[in-house]
Parts: sequence; C-alpha cells; structure tokens
Amino acid sequence: MLFQLTEEQLMIQQAARDFAQNELKPGVIERDEHQKFPTEQVQKLGELGFLGMMVSEKYNGSGMDAMSYVLVMEELSKIDASASVVVSVNNSLVCYGLEAYGSEAQKEKYLKPLASGAQIGAFCLSEPEAGSDATSQQTTAEDKGDYYLLNGTKNWITNGSTASTYLVIAQTDRALKHKGINAFIVEKGAAGFTIGPKENKLGIRGSDTHSLMFNDVRVPKENRIGENGFGFTFAMKTLEGGRIGIAAQALGIAAGAYEMALSYSKERKSFGKPISEHQAVAFKLADMATNIEAARLLVYKAAWLKDQGLSYTLAGSMAKLYASKVAMDVTVEAVQIHGGYGFVKEYHVERLMRDAKITQIYEGTSEIQKLVISRDILR
Ligand code: CAA
Repeated sequence: MLFQLTEEQLMIQQAARDFAQNELKPGVIERDEHQKFPTEQVQKLGELGFLGMMVSEKYNGSGMDAMSYVLVMEELSKIDASASVVVSVNNSLVCYGLEAYGSEAQKEKYLKPLASGAQIGAFCLSEPEAGSDATSQQTTAEDKGDYYLLNGTKNWITNGSTASTYLVIAQTDRALKHKGINAFIVEKGAAGFTIGPKENKLGIRGSDTHSLMFNDVRVPKENRIGENGFGFTFAMKTLEGGRIGIAAQALGIAAGAYEMALSYSKERKSFGKPISEHQAVAFKLADMATNIEAARLLVYKAAWLKDQGLSYTLAGSMAKLYASKVAMDVTVEAVQIHGGYGFVKEYHVERLMRDAKITQIYEGTSEIQKLVISRDILR
C-alpha cells in the first residue's frame, strides 16, 4: 500500500478543505441550533461533483475513487457533519446501490439526477422495531402483478423530507425470511407516501431526519432493484460501502475537534504559560493525535481495498468501529481542553462532541460492527 496521496487526491482534499472553511463554517452554529438543513451548501456540493463522486461519468458522476471520497468526507466532517452525512448517504447508500445493482432504465431515470446533485436520495431500511435486526422488516410489499403494494413505516431516515428518490427495503414473502426481502425505488409524491415530522436530535441537527409512512403505495414492478428476493443482499452490500463513509465522517469529526483543541491549547495561558506546555494537556494531545492517525489508517485501508476491487466488509466494519470510538473519545477531550469555553457553542467542539455519537449508531451500531468482525475472524 502506498502511503502517499496522488496529485489529484491532494487537489480534491484541498477543494473539500476550502469548501468546509468558506462555505460550511459560516452559519454552522446557527444551522445546528435551528435544525436548518444546509440547502445552499448541498447544492454547491453537487456542483463540485461531491454528491456522485464514485459514479461513472456516463451517469453524470465524477468517476473518482473511494480514496478521494473518504478524503472529502473527512474534510467536510471536520466542520459540519450535518452536511457530510448528506454526502455520505447520497454517495454510498443511494448512488452506489443504483449503479451497482440497478437496471439501465433505473440508472437513466434515477441515478443521473442523483449523481449530478440535481436531486438527493434516501435509504430506508430502519423501522420502529427493526434497526439492527435487518431481516425482521415489518414493511410489506405485496406482489400485485405489474406493481407492488407497499405498507409500513420507516424510522430515522436521513434526507427524509429533502430527498426526491427513496430506496425502500420491504418484505415480500415473510416465510422466506431474508430471501423474501426486496428493495424498491419510490418517488416523493407517490400516492399514500407521507413524511412524518422532523426528529429533534442530539447531534447532526442540520440534517433532515424523519419517519416515513407508506399506506397502499403502488410501486411499479420496474422499480424493484435486482431479482426478486435480492433486497437483503442489496442492503448489506450497500451498507458495507456506507460504513467506510461513516468511518471517514467519524475520523473527520475527531480530527476537527483535535485541530481546534491543539490551536486553542497554544493560545490559552494558565499558570504563566500556554496550556499546551502543561504535560496534562500535552499528553492528551499526544493520545488524540495517535488515535486519530490509527483511525485514519483503518479508513484509508478500507477505501484502498474497495478501489482495488477486493473485499472490504471486515476492513469497513473495523474502520467504523474504531473511528467512531475515537470520535467520541477525542471530542470529549477537546471539550475538556477548552474548559468552560468548550461548553459553549461559539467554540464548536461541543457540537462535534454531540455529532460524534451518531457515528456509533447509524449504518450499524458498534455492536453490529463487532458482530460482523467477530463472525469473520471466527469463521
Ligand atoms: N453481504 C452479502 N450478504 C450478506 C452480508 C453481506 N455483508 N451479510 C449477511 N449476508 C447474507 C448472509 O450470507 C446470509 O445469506 P445466506 O443465508 O443465503 O447465506 C443472509 O445475508 C443472512 O445473514 P445473517 O444470518 O448473517 O443475518 P443476520 O440477521 O444474523 O445478521 C447483520 C446480519 C450483519 C446483523 C445485518 O442484519 C446488519 O448489518 N444489521 C445492521 C443494519 C444496519 O446497518 N442498519 C442501519 C440502518 S441504515 C442507516 O443508518 C442509514 C442512514 O440513514 C444513515
């Protein structure tokens, strides 16, 4: 493995860093406080090609590699994880799923506007009683000949009201368990499809999280993704890539908080010298830097494996498990180093601490990652 980024990757990283500073940082505190979706910023991210990064140019994507994707996720997440989750879901869960498994007609109709950033998408798996236990879907899709009748509720859906295209996982034949599950493309505005109120969340408050209700929604048969019964594999395969994106988000949250703590510690004085010169603070910074670097290596390795066309199931879960723990630990320490200032919104680190928590929950909790990892190593 080369421990050196290419010229192109460095340029993409710099573009994301500049965007985060110039476009995301102003207003990030206000968006968090008022739970305001970063509409203009997401539009600009689309113009930069960051919403369909790994999609081929044939379908309006940027044709970049997974390594570039994690670099962008890291830089955006240093400042605004509410914006970066939109990038993550649209790229990993929606665009990837459609490009890898959708029909040509589905790619033409749905992938193209999603990859160009003209629209954004949502991935709808979690339910009130099926988050980790993904085979226990209660949402049903009854086969009615040339269409499916969709009924059920999905919970905690990112981009819930801002999306135009929804990938919905539902049970077609319960007796077949995971082999009776399908994935469908559902358009916003379909009769019987309603969007519940916005969730009032601890973190990533600028992102748009809703419940979705499907009541006798007719889904044309051509909107099923893949063969009959492919839905569970579709969800698992899509989530595998999603976990790399969220691992990179966690890494960015940790790195953002660390960079702020480092800079603050050099300016803030106590007992006659900068607090960075007190070993109590210097040792915290040493631990933070080391853990972030270890997380970065896991994230980069997972992205590298994906780019080589090798299996990244294990590496992606390890990266997400570790980077999300580092995000939690580092953001708590960053608040501690900032002292009283860390507890107020103007200094950003309290928001990063709140944002960090979701990385241990969505796209598979830390416990699910341990399940995936332990099954692999014990096989
Ligand atoms: N790729 C392909 N196939 C897979 C797979 C994978 N990664 N993982 C499992 N499968 C297959 C298995 O091979 C098996 O198939 P066969 O029986 O035909 O061999 C089948 O799926 C069932 O597998 P398991 O018996 O292992 O299933 P399980 O129910 O015991 O466990 C799980 C699977 C790993 C726990 C899975 O349910 C899982 O990942 N759960 C977490 C789901 C999740 O991440 N939810 C988050 C919601 S999405 C979200 O957060 C989006 C957002 O808005 C940000």
